[in-house]
Amino acid sequence: MGVKIVETGLRDGHQSLFATRMNTEEVLCALKELDQVGYHAIEIWGGATFDACLRFLNEDPWERLRLAKKVCKKTKLQMLFRGQNILGYRHYADDVVEKFVEKSIKNGIDIIRIFDALNDIRNLECAVKATKKYGGECQIALSYTTSPVHTVQYYVELAKEIEKMGADSICIKDMAGVMMPTAAYELISALKKNTKLPIELHSHCTGGLCEMTYLKAIEAGVDIVDCALSPLSGGTSQPCTESLNFALQGTEYDPKLNVAMLNAAAAKMAPVKAKYLANGLLNPKVLSVNANIIKYQVPGGMLSNLINQLKQQDASDRLDEVLAEVPNVRKDMGYPPLVTPLSQMVGTQAVLNVLSGERYKMVPKEINEYLHGRYGRSPAPVDEEIRRKIIGDDKVITYRPADDLKPEFEELKKQYKGIAKSDEDVLSIALFGDVAIKFIEQRNEDAIPTVIHVEA
Ligand code: CO
Repeated sequence: MGVKIVETGLRDGHQSLFATRMNTEEVLCALKELDQVGYHAIEIWGGATFDACLRFLNEDPWERLRLAKKVCKKTKLQMLFRGQNILGYRHYADDVVEKFVEKSIKNGIDIIRIFDALNDIRNLECAVKATKKYGGECQIALSYTTSPVHTVQYYVELAKEIEKMGADSICIKDMAGVMMPTAAYELISALKKNTKLPIELHSHCTGGLCEMTYLKAIEAGVDIVDCALSPLSGGTSQPCTESLNFALQGTEYDPKLNVAMLNAAAAKMAPVKAKYLANGLLNPKVLSVNANIIKYQVPGGMLSNLINQLKQQDASDRLDEVLAEVPNVRKDMGYPPLVTPLSQMVGTQAVLNVLSGERYKMVPKEINEYLHGRYGRSPAPVDEEIRRKIIGDDKVITYRPADDLKPEFEELKKQYKGIAKSDEDVLSIALFGDVAIKFIEQRNEDAIPTVIHVEA
């Protein structure tokens, strides 16, 4: 059997390349063709796509999903789900997590990819259970990073636990694109030996390694890899779908994708890319290789955030010091993988440590919460001396953080019954507060259900 491909261009592709700004019409423009390609799945929804719809595009993210489902009749639709954070940035109560999973599946999602930034599987439990309950396919993603504790054995143990939890497949999520080809071979080989679940690899081209890493992973027996249609591939995005398909043609790994349909889809998507290049949202810089991310082991998005933060403080010349401080903060915090929200938290702390002239003199609220155990269990123990300096004698929780949260959904539904027209609206409000309320009020006033014509 050949390698299966998941098309990520409509979620991660435009998220990585131009701040998730494709509107629904653009997302749907080549979906009919993509549905005929022979993919394992098409990724279409996630935190940033949902957020950008409400915040920047004045569009209902639920409507995008329903329209996509109408067009995409053969291929499974996939979404990315941040465990107990759902698509937001804090922990939500279990009833909101469950309702969000239920509504995602009912509106068209087939596969839910669930991950936790810290790989604390307690933060996945609720979403996993709900996915099974509502008949969705449940994939658990492990956040990939390098550190003294993130060994092959560490990932093998996690994979075994995930199999026990009832996941249908496992994804290795290398959000920073730092996985070396040899590391991929070693890790995938070990996972294939220790679990029966299909293994998927997700990485990014940012550091210039990804195609090599995918090839070694494929040789080690990986079942599925994530690729993006050519106009939405490369740079900070995924490797190109068409190229990988060609590279594997005639081998035992041949994905056997429909080349004519790929070409037809790419031809429709090319003008969309051209538009974002022309209006400046797609910066050509993100299309070239950034080998610094291998040296510093930080995701591309985090690197550009740090550069922006320092620019605002008029301290651009301190970038090297900040980048040298990032691994120190990470070590103090017990080596969290640098993925949302931990990448922002560790980055901000590194900036504060350098600019204030004294380490941990200033500490953001989120790092303070993290040290109280409110994000979950850190991969390695945090530095106790630093913890005590910051939180004093405060109690550190060791149970699942969401156990402290009371049900929220019915309360919100009551509170917003004047504007929320559906449970989906209530969920949008639960996750994105004022941003969602502003959008829903405007939509209700305009009374236009949708202006997008769908060719079914
Ligand atoms: Co990604």
